[in-house]
Amino acid sequence: MPEYRTSSLAKKLPSTVPFVGPEAQERAHERAFRVRIGANESVFGPSPQVKKAINTAAINAWKYGDPEFFDLRHAIAEHHKVAPEHIMVGEGIDGLFGYLARLFIEPGDKVVTSAGAYPTFNFHVAGYGGELALASYRDDHEDADALIELSQIHRPKLIYIANPDNPMGTWWPANTIEKMIEQVPDGSLLVLDEAYGEFAPDGVLPTIDPFDPCVLRFRTFSKAYGLAGIRVGYAIGEPTLIKEFNKIRNHFGVGSLAQAACVAALSDQAYLMQTVLDVAAARERLYQIALDNDIQSIPSATNFVALDCGRDGEFASTVLQHLIGNGIFVRMPGIAPLNRCIRVSVGEQKDLDQFAEALKGALKAVSG
Ligand SMILES: Cc1ncc(COP(=O)(O)O)c(C=O)c1O
Repeated sequence: MPEYRTSSLAKKLPSTVPFVGPEAQERAHERAFRVRIGANESVFGPSPQVKKAINTAAINAWKYGDPEFFDLRHAIAEHHKVAPEHIMVGEGIDGLFGYLARLFIEPGDKVVTSAGAYPTFNFHVAGYGGELALASYRDDHEDADALIELSQIHRPKLIYIANPDNPMGTWWPANTIEKMIEQVPDGSLLVLDEAYGEFAPDGVLPTIDPFDPCVLRFRTFSKAYGLAGIRVGYAIGEPTLIKEFNKIRNHFGVGSLAQAACVAALSDQAYLMQTVLDVAAARERLYQIALDNDIQSIPSATNFVALDCGRDGEFASTVLQHLIGNGIFVRMPGIAPLNRCIRVSVGEQKDLDQFAEALKGALKAVSG
């Protein structure tokens, strides 16, 4: 095997990735999934206006996208009623997390998050040699108080919380997050991941002063806007910090079709509202499927529901394997006690009909 002169940091990194994609699983099983409800994508897809915008933009696909995302940045700024200087656009929240880690993290730097929270953030932190200090979940919620307590001990560069949360779908009211922001230690930055923000009920998304240097909030077009394949997310924050991203980001990372799609998505808020209603109805159906199978569901403010299989991680993992073996793509949390659950994204009625039947079979098979 050739020996490459990769960095000493890269040599120490594991070769694992945060998520193995459903396509890779299909190739490994030599079989396509019949139901794809595992990656919190939106089966309802993008607005018809977005499809039209992508078609119109197709003829210009030979051009690089605007590296300053002028139109998209302005559209996002208008949507959030802030100036464009508060907005940075990137290749999904995941891409922006990579840039955030590159901006902030040096080997040995401390970062605070929750054990079992969104792993791609941790992946990027580890990629720059950062060290995680982990708070435990409390009652299936990321524990805002514990995160702050741990931050007071470690004085980390970054503190991560998702509201609403993945993988449990739970959420905090806005005032919990506002209180957290007030308590962020000097020199720390709260990374507020609102990937599922559009699904959240009233009173969950805090009002944040966009000049506040203690918090950077993240949104995406991958979830409620139904554009996971387009890979666009954005950060909203204090302008000096936003500008710092220009030093390290991939300037041509967001293509022209993607930018046109997202401008069109923002302009069709009626479609977004319909998707949010469709997702809420599908979530109810998942709660009902849990009830029908005598298992608990965790109330969710997202486009997925964690179903509590009622025993330990090994049991839930066997249920999951049965579902996957039966052509249903779902995932599960990675860490106890969250891993007593499987995590099921909402689907269309036909998807959930097939899931309901497969779950019944899986629970029966596993319970013997
Ligand atoms: C909490 C959370 N943050 C970020 C992301 C990734 O978002 P994006 O598709 O914009 O990279 C996800 C996707 O599942 C998520 O669940």
